[in-house]
Amino acid sequence: MAQRSENVAMLGSGQPVEPATKPIPELSGGWPLIGHLPEFQRDPVAMLSRCWRDHGELVRFRLGPRECVLFTGPEAHDCYFRAPEEQLDARAVYQFTVPIFGRGVAYDVAPEIFAEQLEFLFPALREAAMRRFARIMFEETTLFADGMAAEGEIDLPVAMNELTVRIASRCLIGQEVRDQVDEGFAEAYHDLQEGINALGFFFPGLPVPAHRRRDRARTKVAEILERIISDRRRSGAAPDDFMQTLMHARYKDGRALSDEEITGILLTVLFAGQHTSAVLSSWMGLELVSAPSSLERVRDEMRDVYGETGAMSRASLKRQVALEHTVRECERLHPPLILLIRKVLKPLTYNGHVVPAGTLAMVSPAASHLLPDVFADPERFSPERFAPPASEDKQHHYALIGFGGSKHRCMGKNFAIQQLKAIWTVLLDRFDFHLDNALPAPNYGSWVTGPKPPSTLGYRRRSEASLFG
Ligand code: HEM
Repeated sequence: MAQRSENVAMLGSGQPVEPATKPIPELSGGWPLIGHLPEFQRDPVAMLSRCWRDHGELVRFRLGPRECVLFTGPEAHDCYFRAPEEQLDARAVYQFTVPIFGRGVAYDVAPEIFAEQLEFLFPALREAAMRRFARIMFEETTLFADGMAAEGEIDLPVAMNELTVRIASRCLIGQEVRDQVDEGFAEAYHDLQEGINALGFFFPGLPVPAHRRRDRARTKVAEILERIISDRRRSGAAPDDFMQTLMHARYKDGRALSDEEITGILLTVLFAGQHTSAVLSSWMGLELVSAPSSLERVRDEMRDVYGETGAMSRASLKRQVALEHTVRECERLHPPLILLIRKVLKPLTYNGHVVPAGTLAMVSPAASHLLPDVFADPERFSPERFAPPASEDKQHHYALIGFGGSKHRCMGKNFAIQQLKAIWTVLLDRFDFHLDNALPAPNYGSWVTGPKPPSTLGYRRRSEASLFG
């Protein structure tokens, strides 16, 4: 194992702190010019797992012209996540989001401004809000389930996308946006989602048809949000939601946010939280249906928790521990963001190796979650690994990193976990599901890794009375 993170030194002002440096091992099999790009495109997680198997915590390789270094394992993650922004920079890497989120927010502004923008929202995710969200998650999923036939097939990624857009728009933006989901918002938002593609990652400003569609969709979504903001200003309506929180917020210098900034921050949060949730929810359905004993445990727990009250709340969802372990196991095996990337601005030293400036520094939740000395029998779906006494996620800091870590850690983690629990509690209460084929492979063609289509479950309404009356 590596030295502890206290021994990790930084190179400030060109001064090496450690006397001798060791070369970073290079992954075998790279091609001239393109490096490991073909292997990465074929199966990124297999390639990133090979890095660890062949060389351990720090490995370098090239993706096209870009020099990359992968950090694997809890100690290496600790170094990565705790490095200051001036050294490992997220902004340079996430520039492709600027045409989507907009100017003046997120990765278009200095990290301290982005941090301030996110801080505005923390109060809107506190306990009282989470209690209200539990009700909304239950209501929206119930409405969704009411719309399903008595039996049939459900295309999970499509269905979960639809459901999480409704939940996220209502919880994270405002009721008025939820009301317009079916009248243009969902369609424009979908086109905007399509704007996140490989081309956009490398050349976000290239005037190709996909980007023109993206820009038109951005204009339409912004119009919808800005109209709601100005309606609220005119009518004095002040519902308790993210939009209103941002309308009241002030930067440290006393300045109020412009409508464009409010729209941009709302889009940032929606993008960060919705598709990732939809994808993990799809994996959760697929895994649960493929693991009868885990499913039985979840159902028994539902009867224990809801048998008497039949009412869903934040408190009841917290009591669903087996279901929570299922969410965490799906996060482990199917983290929607398989790769987190930063640009190295100042050389970074880890365990005697120096990662030079200009490199892309990476952590892969997907590959790191398969380390056999962190997770026993890592390929096996086993939610019980998170229950005491094993509590495998608690044995190392930064073992489970599907929601990132340290200063860029996901601000919506609790929201996402609660949402997934609410969705599957309602659906499992109403329906029996079955998967006729093998578990689908991951679709690495998208920024957020979901199951490859077709990812369909068969379903039939349960004859048992619903726990929710
Ligand atoms: C299953 C669902 C989700 C997953 C897997 C997920 C995962 C992540 C990960 C891995 C990061 C760190 C990215 C990095 O270090 O480069 C992140 C950041 C972030 N997440 Fe989530 N997320 C989810 C849901 C949400 C939700 C529901 C929200 C909003 C309520 C949200 C808001 C954010 C924001 C704003 C950031 C950026 C934080 C920063 O850079 O300071 N996420 N998320």
